[in-house]
Amino acid sequence: MRVLVLGSGAREHAILLALAQDPAVTALACAPGNAGTAAIAEQRGVDVVDPVAVAALARDWAADLVVVGAEAPLVAGVADAVRAEGIACFGPSAQAARIEGSKAFAKDVMAAAGVATAGCEVVDNPAHLDAALDRFTAPYVVKDDGLAAGKGVVVTTDRDTARAHAMTLLDGGHPVLLEEFLDGPEASLFCFVDGATVVPLLPAQDFKRVGDDDSGPNTGGMGAYAPLPWAPPDLAADLVAAVVAPVAREMAGRGTPFQGLLYAGLALTAAGPSVIEFNCRFGDPETQAVLALLRSPLARLLHATATGTLADEPAPEWASGAAVTVVVAAEGYPGTPRVGDPIGGADADGVLHAGTRRRDDGAVVSAGGRVLSVVGTGPDLAAAREDAYRRLDGVHLAGSHHRTDIALRAARGEIAVPTPG
Ligand code: AMP
Ligand code: GLY
Repeated sequence: MRVLVLGSGAREHAILLALAQDPAVTALACAPGNAGTAAIAEQRGVDVVDPVAVAALARDWAADLVVVGAEAPLVAGVADAVRAEGIACFGPSAQAARIEGSKAFAKDVMAAAGVATAGCEVVDNPAHLDAALDRFTAPYVVKDDGLAAGKGVVVTTDRDTARAHAMTLLDGGHPVLLEEFLDGPEASLFCFVDGATVVPLLPAQDFKRVGDDDSGPNTGGMGAYAPLPWAPPDLAADLVAAVVAPVAREMAGRGTPFQGLLYAGLALTAAGPSVIEFNCRFGDPETQAVLALLRSPLARLLHATATGTLADEPAPEWASGAAVTVVVAAEGYPGTPRVGDPIGGADADGVLHAGTRRRDDGAVVSAGGRVLSVVGTGPDLAAAREDAYRRLDGVHLAGSHHRTDIALRAARGEIAVPTPG
């Protein structure tokens, strides 16, 4: 099987590493890729949000399967264009990708499917903002109602801060979503969905804030771990039954079946799990931890998902133990990152590349905000943490920063799902 992966992050590097271990894979390509993916896959240049260009690349390269990493190409209709070439594509149609691309659409699907989610209100007129804020209580949750790569959300107990963020979004022409605050630990559940069949992967948790102890602004994700030692053992099955399967059924019923990876981001509250968001693709950085534990051939699972034959596949098998990934970010991230600095230790095992490129002289240099994802594994979370941070000690990038507390509270047994009352 010839597999073309679209994207250039550590998520795509992790997907390629897992695909490379599947004996069914005969050739791998990545577009546009980075310095790390270039070491294991042919590199191709393409504008990933141009459906015609991606479909042409898939045809010219004779891909048997295209795997779309990020949401923007899916929302732009890349999967539709690839499938129109008669090539299997792991990733939903543009219509189905609206589960991530439009928060209003996602809320509508959840309401129809009877899935719990935070109560919300959309504000598109600044004159209505104050009255809308009055209908909520602190902490305030203020979101951009479109794709914002995780950075459009402000959660704050300060009404003025909430108001200011909403005004910034509205001034930029973006409708604002005000949401009820969900209290409880967060979980990310990835599911392969082939239209009808839903197969969960290991639950994971990510760390969205830039600083230790969840300080500072939201980012695209600063680290993650899997599985969740504090969660009930049947969490994944329960979430499939209560959340993901009903949404998959609802989407199929609307004539827009979801085919690809459906990612439920949830808060496990005292009243039960409640959806924070759906994403229409693998999460970054959770994928780096989850796939580090996958023992089943990945290409086979992705192909079965893309071709509607998931029900015929054995359930994925997982290594025992845990995986932790820690993101190394460039100076300035999540603002404008400093780029072009040489990176020491970038070619080591367990170091996945995101914003990197190889210079003509062979040096790997930084080329984006999230630069690397360092992955450690071990028999338990504490050991996996130690492994990840030991590997991270071997990485050198001037001005870079990372969180030192990824998976720390979970490893110490400090996380619990709240109980009612
Ligand atoms: P999102 O981009 O919607 O995933 O939001 C980013 C982060 O903001 C989430 O991972 C949560 O930590 C936080 N967040 C978003 N919505 C809520 C909510 N309704 N209640 C509590 N926290 C939230
Ligand atoms: N880990 C958050 C995301 O992928 O959206």
